[in-house]
Amino acid sequence: MRSSLDLSLPAVLGTAWFTAGAPGAVDASIATYLEAGGRVLDSARIYGDSEAVIGGWLRAHGEVPGLQLLTKGGHPDPADWLPRLDRGALLHDARTSVAKLGRPADAYLLHRDDVGRPVADVADTLRTLVDEGLTSAVGVSNWSLDRTRELRAALQDRGLDLVAVSDYAGLARPLSEPDFAGEESLDAPTLGWLEETGIPNLSWSSQSGGWFAGVHPRGQFAGAENVRRRAVLEQVAEVAGRRPESVLARWTATISPVVVPIVASRSPERLARTLADLRDPALDPAVANLVAVLDPQGVAGRALLEPGAVW
Ligand SMILES: NC(=O)c1ccc[n+]([C@@H]2O[C@H](COP(=O)([O-])OP(=O)(O)OC[C@H]3O[C@@H](n4cnc5c(N)ncnc54)[C@H](OP(=O)(O)O)[C@@H]3O)[C@@H](O)[C@H]2O)c1
Repeated sequence: MRSSLDLSLPAVLGTAWFTAGAPGAVDASIATYLEAGGRVLDSARIYGDSEAVIGGWLRAHGEVPGLQLLTKGGHPDPADWLPRLDRGALLHDARTSVAKLGRPADAYLLHRDDVGRPVADVADTLRTLVDEGLTSAVGVSNWSLDRTRELRAALQDRGLDLVAVSDYAGLARPLSEPDFAGEESLDAPTLGWLEETGIPNLSWSSQSGGWFAGVHPRGQFAGAENVRRRAVLEQVAEVAGRRPESVLARWTATISPVVVPIVASRSPERLARTLADLRDPALDPAVANLVAVLDPQGVAGRALLEPGAVW
């Protein structure tokens, strides 16, 4: 992988749930992640207190060597859901993020696309964000492959590159109609391109929001195929004598060298277990069984990533 992000621990810490009202849980989450060797926090302007809480944590604890802050902006306002990738909105978002974080971002990702906006215009604004010192690097979340490629070429014309892509990639198959407009799932063509270019996909909701543990059901994961996947995961885990969530965690981290899960939990114990599981090669036979049963004709389970029609 060529990313300037430190992904030597193949997991990014998700911080969308960080709130000023839960300082103990936030401290424990960051401490658990750092202790495991993690160095990249994933935040966004749209995540409520998250950026301010991270900024407060940094002021209280001091800088951690090598800690990298990734944040995202340009998300539509949930009130009207209109695109917000114009120069004014992006500069406003990025400057606000840096003020909340208390320092520049190490990576700034566009949280959504606006397909009506030429990539050259977006690339000019991203160049400005870097020139103003608001971020060292840029990327995209929830962009189609065609638009991502076009943007990358426009960035390269301006002396920049994409540091990361962040799409959903999890075992629960998303329906083609997402829960929130503009969400994108990693599909096989996008994965192939990322492997060619060495750009990482930071998989959001990598544990499918707890769907396989029977919590936090997302409407987008409803359907017989995901019920089948959960049953197979449970069977395979039972045969291996491991927990289903352990097999799931290892699968999310072994799909490809360029696929890096974002992990998040309010429970430091669960976070520590997930971080250990996704690095545990003893889970590989169970992962291989899972893939073999779910996708017998496929190539290393890649078809499992494809979004599906409503069924
Ligand atoms: N770029 C984007 O558009 C985008 C979209 C969504 C998310 N994200 C990023 O991805 C991060 C992670 O998203 P996510 O929270 O949806 O990730 P996730 O890891 O798929 O799900 C975590 C949630 O599932 C629950 N969970 C997971 N495994 C469980 C288990 N075995 N038993 C009980 N509960 C379990 C957790 O509960 P507990 O907290 O109780 O452990 C937590 O609420 C976010 O924080 C954010 O940084 C980005």
